[in-house]
Amino acid sequence: MADKKNIEPAIVGAEQLAKEFKEHSVAEFFKKNKQMLGLYGKVRTLTTVIHEYVTNSLDACEEANILPEIEVKIEELGTEYYEITAKDNGPGLTKETVGKALGQLLAGTKFHRMIQSRGQQGIGSAGCTMLSQSTTGKPTKIITGTGKGKPISLELTIDPKHNAPKIANLKEIDKNFRGLAVRAKFKGVLYRDSEQGPLEYLRRTAIANPHAQIKFTDPTGQKFLFKKSAAKVPKPPIAVRPHPKGATVDEMVSLSKYTSARSVNSFLRNDFDRMGQKSLEAVTKKVSFDMKKDPKQLRWDEAEEIVKAFKEVDFIAPSSDALRPIGEERITKSLQNIVDPEFLHVMTRKPQVYKGGFPFQVEVAIAYGGKSGRTVAGPTGQEKRLEVMRFANRSPLLFDTGNCAITKAVHSIDWKRYDIKDIDHAPVTVLINFISVYIPYTGAGKQAIADEDEVIEEIRLALMQTGRKAGRYISGKRREAERLMKREIFYKYIPEIVGALNQITNDSKETLDKKLRKMVLTKLKLDDAKEAEEEEAKNGNENGKAKEEKPKKEEKSKKEVKKPTKEKKKVKGEKNAKAKK
Ligand SMILES: Nc1ncnc2c1ncn2[C@@H]1O[C@H](COP(=O)(O)OP(=O)(O)OP(=O)(O)O)[C@@H](O)[C@H]1O
Ligand SMILES: [Mg+2]
Repeated sequence: MADKKNIEPAIVGAEQLAKEFKEHSVAEFFKKNKQMLGLYGKVRTLTTVIHEYVTNSLDACEEANILPEIEVKIEELGTEYYEITAKDNGPGLTKETVGKALGQLLAGTKFHRMIQSRGQQGIGSAGCTMLSQSTTGKPTKIITGTGKGKPISLELTIDPKHNAPKIANLKEIDKNFRGLAVRAKFKGVLYRDSEQGPLEYLRRTAIANPHAQIKFTDPTGQKFLFKKSAAKVPKPPIAVRPHPKGATVDEMVSLSKYTSARSVNSFLRNDFDRMGQKSLEAVTKKVSFDMKKDPKQLRWDEAEEIVKAFKEVDFIAPSSDALRPIGEERITKSLQNIVDPEFLHVMTRKPQVYKGGFPFQVEVAIAYGGKSGRTVAGPTGQEKRLEVMRFANRSPLLFDTGNCAITKAVHSIDWKRYDIKDIDHAPVTVLINFISVYIPYTGAGKQAIADEDEVIEEIRLALMQTGRKAGRYISGKRREAERLMKREIFYKYIPEIVGALNQITNDSKETLDKKLRKMVLTKLKLDDAKEAEEEEAKNGNENGKAKEEKPKKEEKSKKEVKKPTKEKKKVKGEKNAKAKK
């Protein structure tokens, strides 16, 4: 018989539990919960590491007004064992900050600022240092040059217990180098040239960042170069203050403890966006305490009163000056460069606001034909499928697709209305870039955007506008194909009709042939016009949840590019030849 003591759990008292009581650092937490940083799955982990290094390089270069030149190299060291080198020409990190930047979780220059950047948490690169260390036992090697003094090289690890960086072998090097180079080894990861692999990640990064040059060497030694197609750095991002409509009580209390203001009045005026004298007076009237009091003494219930008053008072909409869209021209160039489509329509919408306080902006492009769409192996050989390129602040989002507001918006559109009968099987690339000073990611892995109503609605509107344009082109193409087919059928019978008519009328065969061909072309043209009219009428009758913009406004958009198709060229050629005759 089994010993009863071994089966029954021991009853533990509070005193015994107290002995087990321990504090943990955030580094220990994330070491145990790597999946929260997107560091799970062999392929995903490798791509995420590249993503962390590359987003940091782009952010740093943009802030320093430098045209980014980034190099990424992946070497295979063994089974599921790789070394990654990522190098940029950015501002670099000083001797004092380099350790904390890459070796301490929740430390950085972005978390505390409302600024449009790719990173926002202060975990990305330190998470990579920790992953490297915990899978290989090896340090991350770093070279940093700031342009002042000699560059330094060092080896970095993290002390997880204290979430603190540990630097070894720090030395100055006799090289002329400005920027940051990181080299780290990882085990339990896998390189794949797939839709979620590093190469695709970098291809998309290049599309959304046409001012960046990206070089990539894959584990087989194959080299890829994504050249820049824009020669200017986007305007450096600027930090904005929180808008009152987006403020929470918790945020109000935290901010009040760090402000340099001496009264609640001046705290609100200094630390919040759009806090004019009139709005401040209106808030003062609504609260029960003295607004001249020291903000450091602000109580939770008083902060609640302020936030309640904010909801009731009118404020000017948040300023959108801090938003940095890619821009229609740059997206156009970029997609022409990389996707080389037959038809392209690009649109950067006006800034909007979500949750009352966070400005955001949506950019959408639809590309058709050329290299648009994903190529997959199907039953009839290589087939094209819809490709949705999601971006948040110009960073590609490759994972958590189904959970993302962008995907939800794409699938909520009835594409048939735009004559795109089977969008999933169309040679179409849809690019959506969502930008904001605060992206509502669904998790710390930053791969999906939360489906806030305002966000989904705005993306839908942008998709509808561009979808309508693409639809017109696609239906035009279909009509043209049908017309060419009909023309061939009619032409087939012309010699026979010519023969018969010649016998009846005695007119020359050449004249009859010419007249009949002209009749066919005129008739087909009429068919086409009729169909276009019907199409217009159909589009005009649509009613969606998000109403479409007036067509007039759409016509104004210039960022539409059409390449003459082979068939069109042929028809034109024929017309010209006939005209010459
Ligand atoms: N290549 C780089 N050049 C200059 N500074 C860098 C570079 N990489 C990282 N940093 C600095 O290190 C800090 C920490 O980077 P980390 O990736 O850990 O966090 P983050 O980018 O702020 O936010 P997130 O966790 O969302 O990526 C950054 O905020 C930045 O100040
Ligand atoms: Mg980062």
